[in-house]
Amino acid sequence: MTLPKIVVLGMGGTIAGVSPRPGDDRHYLAGQVPVAQLTESLPGAPVPARLMTEQVAQIDSKDIEPALWWRLRARVLDWLAKPDVAGVVITHGTDTLEETAYFLSATVSTDKPVVLTCAMRPATSTAPDGPRNLRDALTVALTPGARGVVVVCAGEVHSAREVQKHHTQRLDAFVSGNRGPLGAIVSDRFEIARDWPTTPDFSSSGDIENIVNVSMWPRVDIVTSHAGADGRVVDALVAHGVDGLVVAGTGNGTLHSALADALWRASASGVAVWISTRCAQGGVNLHDDSAWPGTGDLNPVKARIALALELMGWSAHCAPFWR
Ligand code: SIN
Repeated sequence: MTLPKIVVLGMGGTIAGVSPRPGDDRHYLAGQVPVAQLTESLPGAPVPARLMTEQVAQIDSKDIEPALWWRLRARVLDWLAKPDVAGVVITHGTDTLEETAYFLSATVSTDKPVVLTCAMRPATSTAPDGPRNLRDALTVALTPGARGVVVVCAGEVHSAREVQKHHTQRLDAFVSGNRGPLGAIVSDRFEIARDWPTTPDFSSSGDIENIVNVSMWPRVDIVTSHAGADGRVVDALVAHGVDGLVVAGTGNGTLHSALADALWRASASGVAVWISTRCAQGGVNLHDDSAWPGTGDLNPVKARIALALELMGWSAHCAPFWR
């Protein structure tokens, strides 16, 4: 019997991190160990798959740029298009993992699994969590019926749309808000609690790659409403040619009145404004007469990606998907 083929793409992060003092989990450099090496010593039962690896990047994910997202997306699409590839696993830093996962979930149309995983301790830790997470990610990718973009960390599986890093230190650094995780890994098996996430359907969009100008990434910034906000940041961003603003409002998307005044000025000059919340959970549910659209349960960093994609013309091809 031919085993399924899974491709592991390396992006860097703590999972590939190295400390000059083995066992020191605080001071280390992310993105050092090649992805091929990460797949060499996995815990648990042997993985029933042929593993291939490709190093797409080797960075600390705080430094990621849209150009790298597009490159990663191209590599994912290329591998998934091969009939003998059952799925893709991506090793990635935790700090912007939810952004990369969300970007892929909004731009990759596939019925195969794309599984991102990570670690909170470097590879040189005396008790690294990366090997277990990577083993679990492979389990998820090999689960019959697996599809869509998901994140695996600390035995839990999250959908790209809901996943959010919520803790700076704990191994279980990710949550999925009100909906909770998609499921859990138990004894090298994935127990799924809800449906696999969907990806956008571009089938009626012709050659979407030619329709959308992916080389252009609009300038979209996040501003926060807080006590004492005065709107000067918004005015400065407008003066510098910002295309869109996502506002991390208070509570259910409420805004300091001075900030709201500046946003009216921004809107009047053609800047797209979306309202999100600085609350970690619950999303925004705005009145119908709200001046600006709310982002629902998309947090500000994901809403920023959605707004950029909308400004690039993607939403015309899968509008209901991301809001
Ligand atoms: C990173 O995001 O690349 C570094 C931090 C981490 O992976 O936890």
